[in-house]
Amino acid sequence: MSETVFTYAAPALKFGPGASDEIGHDLQGYGARRVLVVTDAGVAATGHPARIADQLAARGLEVTTYDGARVEPTDASLVEAIDFARDAGPFDAIVAVGGGSTIDTAKAVNLLTTNPGELMDYVNAPVGKAQAPSQPLLPLVAVPTTTGTGSESTTICVLDVLALHVKTGISHPALRPRLAVVDPRLTLTQPAMVTAASGMDILCHALESYTARWYADFDAKRPEERVPYCGANPVADMWSERSLTLLAGAFRTAVRDGSDTAAREQMALAATFAGLGFGNAGVHVPHANAYPIAGRVRDYRPEGYPADEPIVPHGMAVSLTAPEAFRFTFEADPERHLRAARLLEPDADLGAGPDVLPGVLTRLMRDIGIPNGLAEVGYGDADVEPLVDGALKQQRLLATAPREVTGEDLAAVFRGSMEHW
Ligand SMILES: NC(=O)c1ccc[n+]([C@@H]2O[C@H](COP(=O)([O-])OP(=O)(O)OC[C@H]3O[C@@H](n4cnc5c(N)ncnc54)[C@H](O)[C@@H]3O)[C@@H](O)[C@H]2O)c1
Ligand SMILES: [Zn+2]
Repeated sequence: MSETVFTYAAPALKFGPGASDEIGHDLQGYGARRVLVVTDAGVAATGHPARIADQLAARGLEVTTYDGARVEPTDASLVEAIDFARDAGPFDAIVAVGGGSTIDTAKAVNLLTTNPGELMDYVNAPVGKAQAPSQPLLPLVAVPTTTGTGSESTTICVLDVLALHVKTGISHPALRPRLAVVDPRLTLTQPAMVTAASGMDILCHALESYTARWYADFDAKRPEERVPYCGANPVADMWSERSLTLLAGAFRTAVRDGSDTAAREQMALAATFAGLGFGNAGVHVPHANAYPIAGRVRDYRPEGYPADEPIVPHGMAVSLTAPEAFRFTFEADPERHLRAARLLEPDADLGAGPDVLPGVLTRLMRDIGIPNGLAEVGYGDADVEPLVDGALKQQRLLATAPREVTGEDLAAVFRGSMEHW
């Protein structure tokens, strides 16, 4: 029997310049007295977390700051953060000030300081034991400083399991922040490449959830089987379409001139909207491919990111196979792919066919300085097999693709993504 039901959930949202000045008031509403502020070194250097900590202290809250979140968290970095919080706690609320890396670190800290056991007990199977939390979590206030992941709205924490060279996650509705505070002023200091990469993450969230398998094309689930991601649906579509329109108006400007407050605000809205969409619909092939692309990096070090370790940032990793992935999914629903392309380039005469959306994406990627394909970040044809193996492990994501995806299909997508222009 086919599914007939879709679901939608989201945190409370406070959006706009100045929204982050009210966090002390919001926390007092939760009855909080001892608060942990989580951030990373790069964000700490902007002064935003210290300003927020001072604001909380001025309201009489006791504040401890952890500024050791790792950019693209690993199991080891999360355990370090959890150990810190277990030693310094107990706390009764957590505030995450940073990009997806920081917000995901705070989610793991929240889970493991309120619940028994260790990180791997909760990590998705088959890598971990996929246990559900047995105890309630603390209120988490998520304050994004990048315009990208939407992690402030979602139920997941993404991590790299170092020993296995795989990226995986923890996914449970209890991880969703209580409140998302999106203050576009905090995003003005994002370096251009962070704006470009995290913006490609927004774009792929919107495009993948918009082209995902329709919720009614899944088998019917029992209530206890429902997952946060239920496939494309009328509510998620609304967020995704609006996000694409915002990106069309602001993305190139925000990368070119980071001080353009109007463009920054539109990007913050776009990230929020896409998060609310994909956080309920799900993502598919480009995200599945991004996990091994990021996990198997050798020596690529993009500008704007910490230079101590090689990294293909999440949004960049997602975008590198996106043009080919959407060429592959086109036949599942041509009209949706074309409509998305028209939302992104409303003034162009784009024509029709499977090349339209890939063309829109590669023009944008070239304009904002995203690498010209997998070759530029260090991959070659000999890497296709392990990349395919890594992507095939992301069955949860591939199941959301609008058509069946085989290893051969993925190999063609990876091979076609070595060089885009
Ligand atoms: N949980 C989810 O729903 C979800 C969704 C997508 C991605 N992710 C994860 O999020 C992570 C990526 O997060 P991201 O793209 O937001 O970037 P990020 O948090 O990794 O930050 C990127 C870099 O930008 C710096 N930075 C962030 N904000 C800044 C600012 N305002 N000013 C100056 N520097 C700033 C950081 O210090 C860091 O060096 C990845 O680990 C990815 O897997 C999670
Ligand atoms: Zn993403």
